[in-house]
Amino acid sequence: MAAEKTTQNKRVLEVKNLKLHYLTSQGAVKAVDDISFCLNKGETLGIVGESGCGKTTTAVALMMMPSPPGKIVGGQILIEGKDIVPLTETQIRKQIRWEKISMVFQGAMNCLTPVYTIGKQMMETLREHREMSKEEAIARIEKYLAYVGLSKEVLKRYPHELSGGMKQRIVIAMALFLEPKIVLCDEPTTALDVVVQAQIINLLKDLKQQLDLSFIFITHDLATEAEVSDRLMVMYGGKIAEIGTNEQLYGKQGPMHPYTQRLLKATPLLHEKVEELAFIPGRPPDLLKPPAGCKFHDRCNVVMDRCKVDEPDLQEVEPDHFVACWRCRES
Ligand SMILES: Nc1ncnc2c1ncn2[C@@H]1O[C@H](COP(=O)(O)OP(=O)(O)O)[C@@H](O)[C@H]1O
Ligand SMILES: [Mg+2]
Repeated sequence: MAAEKTTQNKRVLEVKNLKLHYLTSQGAVKAVDDISFCLNKGETLGIVGESGCGKTTTAVALMMMPSPPGKIVGGQILIEGKDIVPLTETQIRKQIRWEKISMVFQGAMNCLTPVYTIGKQMMETLREHREMSKEEAIARIEKYLAYVGLSKEVLKRYPHELSGGMKQRIVIAMALFLEPKIVLCDEPTTALDVVVQAQIINLLKDLKQQLDLSFIFITHDLATEAEVSDRLMVMYGGKIAEIGTNEQLYGKQGPMHPYTQRLLKATPLLHEKVEELAFIPGRPPDLLKPPAGCKFHDRCNVVMDRCKVDEPDLQEVEPDHFVACWRCRES
């Protein structure tokens, strides 16, 4: 992939040729297959794509915590210029995970332990990672509760006594209280009702400013994505189909990859009136046996012969705008 020259010095994360495969008894499921992208300081990069395209797998790879039988089988993840892939699990745990990069997992608010108070869970998680006195830990927890808009009164509560929005705020506080600068959010509002979704989105935006964070924000909801992200990365079949700024993808020219074009058409933005919802016939590929050539070719309405045999790589079509499509190289 061509380098994004203008933003080189502002990168907080750089991913090069990353591959995470699930090594199942039937063969390798190539859930993340040779992807390269970067995250700039202070930005929110949205990752979108239909279910099963490798969004969550990308995030867990960045956290260096693939779920079995997943394995990182290639590539580099550079944080502050240093590749973390060769590090041991102990090094990752001590220096990287939660400390430099953290994640709000999909459905995490439902994983709070029902039998312990919020205070006990937060205290244990914090002191597992940091040696600090009880007083210091309490002060740190109260500081982060305030950041997420909760009073210290919640510390005495059990998870079932809290609303979904409050639980999600606690999970966000726990992702932040070791002070990482890179935060991955995987569908952080999906299980919440619309009003609470908006509150959580606003909270994340505020926290980004206040704490000087850089975000990767995963969702299948493009209306939310358009609101929070500075750039969008579209995944299809374990690959990157297109990356561009919001202005490029929502602006006059619009997206260039046929998949992005149809994805955006299928998801109207909140303020948009649409005559008829487009949908994309067919399903994303089985990543155990992906099709040859471009992974999207069997669903593409402008497919050419070449697309069925050769896989297009990601090419820069204008500054900061990358597309993996043979059709986009013609003209
Ligand atoms: N533990 C696993 N074992 C085998 N395959 C998996 C596992 N987890 C995810 N996959 C497969 O990896 C692909 C990408 O999944 P995922 O990253 O969850 O996609 P997304 O988050 O975009 O919905 C899918 O084909 C999924 O079936
Ligand atoms: Mg997912």
